[in-house]
Amino acid sequence: MWILTIFCLCLHFSATCNAGITSKYVRKPHASVDMPPEHFPSPATFNAPEQVHITQGDHEGRGMIISWVTPLHRNPNVVTYWEAEGEHRRRHKVHAATTSYRYYNYTSGFIHHATLRMLKYDTRYIYELGKHNEARKFSFTTPPKAGPDVPYTFGVMGDLGQTYDSNQTFQHYVSNPKGQAVLYVGDLSYADHYPFHDNVKWDIWGRFVEKSTAYQPWIWTAGNHEIDYAPEIEENTPFKPYMHRYHVPYKASKSTSPLWYSIKRASAYIIVLSSYSAYGTYTPQYNWLEQEFPKVNRSETPWLIVLLHSPMYNSNNYHYMEGESMRVMFEQWFVENKVDLVFSGHVHSYERSERISNVQYNITNGLSAPVKDPCAPVYITIGDGGNIEGIADNFADPQPSYSAFREASFGHAILEIKNRSHAFYTWHRNQDNEPTIADSTWFHNRYWYPHDEHSSSSGLVH
Ligand SMILES: *[C@@H]1O[C@H](CO)[C@@H](O)[C@H](O)[C@H]1NC(C)=O
Ligand SMILES: *[C@@H]1O[C@H](CO)[C@@H](O)[C@H](O)[C@H]1NC(C)=O
Ligand SMILES: *[C@@H]1O[C@H](CO)[C@@H](O)[C@H](O)[C@H]1NC(C)=O
Ligand SMILES: *[C@@H]1O[C@H](CO)[C@@H](O)[C@H](O)[C@H]1NC(C)=O
Ligand SMILES: *[C@@H]1O[C@H](CO)[C@@H](O)[C@H](O)[C@H]1NC(C)=O
Ligand SMILES: [Fe+2]
Repeated sequence: MWILTIFCLCLHFSATCNAGITSKYVRKPHASVDMPPEHFPSPATFNAPEQVHITQGDHEGRGMIISWVTPLHRNPNVVTYWEAEGEHRRRHKVHAATTSYRYYNYTSGFIHHATLRMLKYDTRYIYELGKHNEARKFSFTTPPKAGPDVPYTFGVMGDLGQTYDSNQTFQHYVSNPKGQAVLYVGDLSYADHYPFHDNVKWDIWGRFVEKSTAYQPWIWTAGNHEIDYAPEIEENTPFKPYMHRYHVPYKASKSTSPLWYSIKRASAYIIVLSSYSAYGTYTPQYNWLEQEFPKVNRSETPWLIVLLHSPMYNSNNYHYMEGESMRVMFEQWFVENKVDLVFSGHVHSYERSERISNVQYNITNGLSAPVKDPCAPVYITIGDGGNIEGIADNFADPQPSYSAFREASFGHAILEIKNRSHAFYTWHRNQDNEPTIADSTWFHNRYWYPHDEHSSSSGLVH
C-alpha cells in the first residue's frame, strides 16, 4: 500500500525532481539527556553474562563472534550452541578468549569473545552462556550463502549514545521485523563525554543495546568517540575500550587492524574503513584497501557497500569537510569500482546525496566541483541516532546540488536488497511510528543495472 502512496507523492514532487529537498519537518527541539543507569541493571543472578553482542566471525558468513562480559569472575567463559530446528541438535561448545582492561581508575569486567565457525548457512541457532541458574539463552540466524540474488535486509544506525532519543531510535529499529543485521557507522556509548571517560558508560551501553545485539550481528565501525585518547590521564592507547569490547573478523580479510576490514553477507560485500587511522599513500589502511577492491566479485556479491564514520559529502555546517582528506584519497577508487552506497555517521542529522563525484580535479585544472556521475556511490549520513550532543540542525543554505534529501531529525534506515539490480531504502524519523517512511528510494545496482534512479523525487515531506 505505501509503495503506491510513495508513487503518488513522487508525482506530487515531480516539479522539484532535480532539486534537493530540505525537509520542512521541524522536530521539537529539546536537549538529549542520558537515561539513568538504573534502567539498565546487570542481570539479577550472581556474575551472570551480560552485554551480549554478536558480529560476523569470518569473511563468508559462516562464522559468528559471540561476546559477553562477566562482571566478577572469569567464568563462565564457554558458549554452548545448537541448531534450533532439525535432527542435528548436537550441542557444541566453544571456549572464549577472555580479556579485561584498566582505564584510569576503572577496571573492566571479564570480556569474553568466542568465535563459532563452520555454521550452516541460513540456519537458526540457539546459544547459551553460563550454567544452571545464571545461564542466559539467545538465538541468531546465519545468512544465506553469498549469491547475487539473495534478498537480505540491513538496518543502518549511527551515533546512538544512550539518551532517551537513542532509546527511541533503537526501539523503533527493534520493532521493525525486517532487519536481519545492522550496519553500524560508529560512535557507540559516548562514555568519553563524561569525566575521565567514565567507562561504566560502556557497560551500560552494552546492556542497553543487548536486546538487539545478542540476536543479530551488528557490523561495527569505529568513530571518534571510540578513540578514548586522553594523555592528561595517561590513557595513551587509542581505541582501548572499543578494541577490548568489540571484536571483528579483520584477519579473515587480510587486514592487520580491527579498525578496517571487510565481510561478505548474502548479496552484499561490506568494506569498513577507519576515519581515525592513517589512510595516506603507503599506510596499512591504504595498501589494504587498494588490494581489497580487486577481490570483490560482483557476480557473487553485487552490492558493494562502504561504512566509514566521517562523511565525505555532507552539507551540514556541523563537522563540515572533516571527511575531505579521506575523500581525496579514496573517492577515485569508489567511483572506479562502482561502489553502490557509502554510509557514514558523525553528523547528527540525516542526509542522502545524489550520485556525484569530484574526482576530475588535479591541482592545476580548477575542476573542483562535484558533478553528476552514474558510476559514483550515493552517500548517506545517518549519524542521527540521538546521542547526548543533540541534533545538528544548521544546514548550509542554499542546499548544494549534490544533496538530494536532508532533515535534522533523529532516526534510522532500512536497506532491503531484493536481488542483483534492486534495493529498496527507507529512512524512519523517530517522531513518526516505525511504519511511516520519511525518505525512500529504490537503489539500482551500479554494476548490474546502472540506470538513473531519479532519487531526489521520492522524499516524503510531511
Ligand atoms: C575515579 O576517580 C574519580 C575522580 O577522582 C572519582 O570521582 C571516581 O569515583 C573514581 N572511580 C572509581 C571507580 O574509583
Ligand atoms: C525505552 O523505550 C521502550 C519502548 O518504547 C520503553 O518501554 C522504555 O521504558 C524506554 N526506556 C527508558 C529508560 O525510557
Ligand atoms: C565470481 O563468482 C561467481 C559466482 O559465484 C563464480 O562463478 C566465479 O567463478 C567467480 N569469479 C572469480 C574470478 O572468482
Ligand atoms: C590536469 O587536468 C587537465 C584537464 O583535465 C589535463 O589537461 C592535465 O593533463 C592534467 N594534469 C595532470 C598533471 O594530470
Ligand atoms: C529485482 O527486484 C525488483 C524489485 O522487486 C523487480 O522489479 C525486478 O523484476 C527483479 N529483477 C529480477 C531479475 O528478478
Ligand atoms: Fe562522530
